[in-house]
Amino acid sequence: MEDVSETTDERFTQSFDELRSARPYGSRVEPVTGPVADWATDFSHMEEEWADDCYRIQDDLRERCPIAHTERFGGAWLPVRHDDVAEIAYDTQRFSSRSPVVGNFRPPLDLAPVGGVPPISSDPPFHHDARKLLLPAFTRTAVGKLEPATRAFCHRLIDEMGDAAVVDAATDYAQHIPMRVIAEMLGFPAEDGPKFRQYVEDTLEGINLPPEERLEKVGKLFDYLLVQIRAHLAEPANDLTTYLLEAEIYGQKLDPFHVAGTMSLMLVAGIDTTWSAIGASLWHLAKTPSDLERLVAEPELLPTAMEEFLRAYAPVTMGRLVTQDMQWHGVDMKAEDWILLSFPAANRDPAKFDRADEVVIDRAVNKHAAFGLGIHRCVGSHLARMELRVALEVWLERFPHFSLADPDAVRWSTGQVRGPRTLPLRVK
Ligand code: HEM
Repeated sequence: MEDVSETTDERFTQSFDELRSARPYGSRVEPVTGPVADWATDFSHMEEEWADDCYRIQDDLRERCPIAHTERFGGAWLPVRHDDVAEIAYDTQRFSSRSPVVGNFRPPLDLAPVGGVPPISSDPPFHHDARKLLLPAFTRTAVGKLEPATRAFCHRLIDEMGDAAVVDAATDYAQHIPMRVIAEMLGFPAEDGPKFRQYVEDTLEGINLPPEERLEKVGKLFDYLLVQIRAHLAEPANDLTTYLLEAEIYGQKLDPFHVAGTMSLMLVAGIDTTWSAIGASLWHLAKTPSDLERLVAEPELLPTAMEEFLRAYAPVTMGRLVTQDMQWHGVDMKAEDWILLSFPAANRDPAKFDRADEVVIDRAVNKHAAFGLGIHRCVGSHLARMELRVALEVWLERFPHFSLADPDAVRWSTGQVRGPRTLPLRVK
């Protein structure tokens, strides 16, 4: 009898070789980097000025040019009003998710409707079926089972800090929590965390690299995934990797690209995002003693405080591609223009939120868009909220008093996922 796992292994090996040798690049443009002259006509989310304070920039644009444009990345638009962001998120006909990371090359058109990392890169009708596959792994109940181990891990991270008076809450704490949780869910070795970090950085922050170099980096990620896939084919486990290998869509096993694409999406969507949300929340508390004291004295405020941190410091901005030439709210969009879909800007629109630019930790009504809007709304939101809550609960229990050790040393990431990457805090 034919050995099924061997045939499957071959299927994966062949597909991944094909990816490396034959995948076309689509259209490319030369990168433009350097200071921005005018954010209304030349914006770039890859510059340090954006990383330092993208809210100020987007608030200013809302006043004078609510749909900004740039020639960088071969042409992109940045709408900053809540209702415009929502309209685009809901209009999957005219705005495709084929490539959710805005960069210097557009992947080929025939990548739609699946895209490289389903379901986030998928358009209807395929999107619905690819998303449905993932839902059981991310229910509140499924996520609840991961909570005790996550809590114990947070305590361990703090134990490992020893007696240090100053610690880096981004690199010594926040970053490790989602890495560990995702490794556990996928059934990857826990110590591979730093490798994931590199893959995520390559995907999200390497967008000015030539496409060949970017694809080479993606190749490295796929080599790593192939090792994990082989291990799971040889020894199936009760985890997300085996689940994806055994899952079917339209009566057939998932295509190898679909399996690997979804696995890499888990690494990219699951790590930087939550790391950023935890880091930004700690940063806010460190620089706002009144909120820190109140939250320590009234821990029952944590649920509203968390939602407010997610609103005010929403880490995720997504990309869309315009599907047809059109006039849209007074601007001339062309097919294949990018949209930088800023959920952070939507969350700070005074037309939607009272005191939009303030952090109000007991805000009662908070319909923020940090997890997106429409069909692509975050599949991992229960997981993200569990990780954020546990990370903050443990931190506040262990360090009820902390502050910024050196405000000038705090560094924020550039690109579409924004959070502190260096965050020295004085904890003693
Ligand atoms: C605070 C942390 C997080 C934030 C702010 C966040 C934000 C988002 C946003 C804005 C989207 C919508 C994308 C779009 O419209 O194109 C999204 C989609 C998604 N997120 Fe999250 N996310 C977080 C954590 C996670 C985690 C932990 C996971 C899982 C490990 C995850 C998995 C996904 C997936 C699979 C999608 C695609 C859903 C679809 O296309 O139907 N996210 N997320």
